Amino acid sequence: MAEKDYSKYFKKPNLKEAAKRGKERVKVINFDLPETMEKIGKGKKFLIDTFGCQMNVHDTEVMSGILQNMGFNHTKNEEEADIIILNTCAIRENAENKVFGKIGALKHLKRENPDLILGVCGCMSQEEKIVNTLLEKYQHVDLIFGTHNIHRLPEYLRDAYLNKERIVEVWSQEGDIVEHMPKRREGSVKAWVNITYGCDEFCTYCIVPFTRGKERSRLPKDIINEVRELAELGYKEVTLLGQNVNSYGKDFKDEKYGFGDLLNDLNKVDIPRVRFTTSHPKDFDDKSVAALGKGGNLVEHIHLPVQSGNTDVLKRMNRKYTREDYLELVRKLKETIPNVSLTTDIIVGFPNETDEQFEDTLSLVKEVGYEGAFTFIYSPREGTPAAKMKDNVPMEVKKERLQRLNKLVNEGYRKGHEQYKGQVVEVLCEGTSKNDDSILAGYTRTNKLVNFTGDTAAIGNLVKVKVTEARTWHLLGEQVYE
Ligand code: SAH
Ligand code: SF4
Ligand code: F3S
Repeated sequence: MAEKDYSKYFKKPNLKEAAKRGKERVKVINFDLPETMEKIGKGKKFLIDTFGCQMNVHDTEVMSGILQNMGFNHTKNEEEADIIILNTCAIRENAENKVFGKIGALKHLKRENPDLILGVCGCMSQEEKIVNTLLEKYQHVDLIFGTHNIHRLPEYLRDAYLNKERIVEVWSQEGDIVEHMPKRREGSVKAWVNITYGCDEFCTYCIVPFTRGKERSRLPKDIINEVRELAELGYKEVTLLGQNVNSYGKDFKDEKYGFGDLLNDLNKVDIPRVRFTTSHPKDFDDKSVAALGKGGNLVEHIHLPVQSGNTDVLKRMNRKYTREDYLELVRKLKETIPNVSLTTDIIVGFPNETDEQFEDTLSLVKEVGYEGAFTFIYSPREGTPAAKMKDNVPMEVKKERLQRLNKLVNEGYRKGHEQYKGQVVEVLCEGTSKNDDSILAGYTRTNKLVNFTGDTAAIGNLVKVKVTEARTWHLLGEQVYE
């Protein structure tokens, strides 16, 4: 393949730059698509493959919205796509390997259709090492951009089509908050809503503060208006997104308005359910706990990542809370929010984690009684402080720990479900079950999947379901008609 011309775009990321934090509050700007760009995609189709977290999924919805406004149509078929974008995740090594596998697998499509534009964006693009690998070994990638500049996609595509050039533009640091970006949402029942971008926590194992930049809060009015508009469109549930939702508003200069205030304001909006993710235990203040205690549209499910049950490990992870702090928060949440369901994230095999320290994690899991957890083996991320720590824990031991932990976690899932047997629960029906389209499926306020028999008119609505059976991963039930 002929060497491509980089011309005006050639900006690679730098992790050291990405770690810097300026004190000034960012500007809020409005997205605007020039009329001249509205027809660029006429007759063309796009596909975006998403590899990461909810934030990443929502970025895909934004990019899809932008592409649609440029005249592109969405397709699920790679063969007929004129643009394929991979929206990547850098959180663990296996996430990155998946992406490289996919890029390799797409090579034949590019050979068959040289006009195909293949793009890579998301968190992996923020790593210089990855960009270098893409440039050297994956020459069939035409477009590389990062998490801070997705609003520039129209320009990149215009120039990619005009000049047939390879485009590499990754900003190491965040830019402004861009409002009024178009969105092509995946469903019409539940919606994601960003409340903060970026992360300032710098947990020692984590790459996100480098790939997503400084923490920036959207203005309350922009969030509340978006939720109102979604309610008017018929959405029944929103999930507020942030790496640490509890630190919402800390970057406001002249306003004292935090996550608890936002929850109280959203509780007044006429939408049946408001969720949020992810909570950080260190910033979960009493105002937020009290807000959740009022119920209303604020559901009684909290995903509260603990990462480890041992205070020394937590310290080395830079989580800024102790085992006792965490348990005290759990006590408050249980006391204030009736029937609250708690789930968590846990990392096993952090560098030099001892058997005793791991046992502390097991005992904490038992004590809290989680109804679910995402569990991971620690994966070193280049550029993070933990990646420099010597590690004396063999992989075999880490795997064994993960297995023991998962056994306990799965019991929690099962117990969490069993408590509902015989009860009537409120289910937001999203459609039919994945495996059987004569069965309806939806979630309770506590985020339990319920497969049930009922009327298809339930789809998109809140209905009452009597739980007849509890399985490890879901509940079975029958719709109840009042
Ligand atoms: N901001 C959220 C989620 C971040 S990523 C939070 O702080 O909870 C989701 C989960 O991935 C984390 O909670 C953590 O458990 C896990 N994770 C992050 N970095 C990791 C790494 N290097 N190795 C293994 N797991 C990791
Ligand atoms: Fe990563 Fe910690 Fe930020 Fe979560 S809070 S994104 S784990 S640095
Ligand atoms: Fe992955 Fe980036 Fe999300 S690293 S977990 S896609 S913030």
